[in-house]
Amino acid sequence: MSGISRGANMAIARMFPWNEQRTFVDVGTAQGDLAVQIALTNPHLEGIGFDLPEVAPIFKDYVSSHGLSARLRFESGDFFKQELPKADVVLMGHILHDWDLSTKRMLIQKAFNALPDGGALVVYEAIIDDDRSQNTFRLLMSLNMLIETPGGFDYTGANCTGWMKEAGFSTTRMEHLVGPDSMVIAIK
Ligand SMILES: C[S@@+](CC[C@H](N)C(=O)[O-])C[C@H]1O[C@@H](n2cnc3c(N)ncnc32)[C@H](O)[C@@H]1O
Repeated sequence: MSGISRGANMAIARMFPWNEQRTFVDVGTAQGDLAVQIALTNPHLEGIGFDLPEVAPIFKDYVSSHGLSARLRFESGDFFKQELPKADVVLMGHILHDWDLSTKRMLIQKAFNALPDGGALVVYEAIIDDDRSQNTFRLLMSLNMLIETPGGFDYTGANCTGWMKEAGFSTTRMEHLVGPDSMVIAIK
């Protein structure tokens, strides 16, 4: 996933207004490349990589190889069984499209619960244009998720902002990152 996600991770590290934040948690962090790119570009931040316990060794090795162990730590957990760690910013890269609609809504609600007032949820992946007409890759990615997973599918920016508003977020915006990837930012 680090190879697939690197370009978007570097864009998020640059484009998001990190100067206003102190802490973040990357939910479903895998090796932790998003956390690493954010921490390399923004030396004032501290972050958590949240994932299943099996992932801890690869995260810790990767973070250590970048000299970031003092600012990035791993927190093991299962987002079906527990709340998310609290932070100023919650990130989810290539997470929501793995799951069915009720799980997508559950994860967005848990992100809302983990944030302070004014905190931000950043969701990113190959988000489909609202007319579902402009980018074949994004539609094929959704077909891929429908075939590969029991309930996963990709979604439009309008879908995502609608679920975020239902969870209680006050404002949302979408920004293109690189290639097929965009991020949707929701402010609590
Ligand atoms: C498709 S990968 C995304 C990795 C990374 N965020 C990226 O964009 O490159 C999904 C991640 O979600 C994690 N994951 C799956 N189920 C989980 C659960 N129940 N609780 C926490 N993490 C989970 C997986 O271990 C994996 O690292």
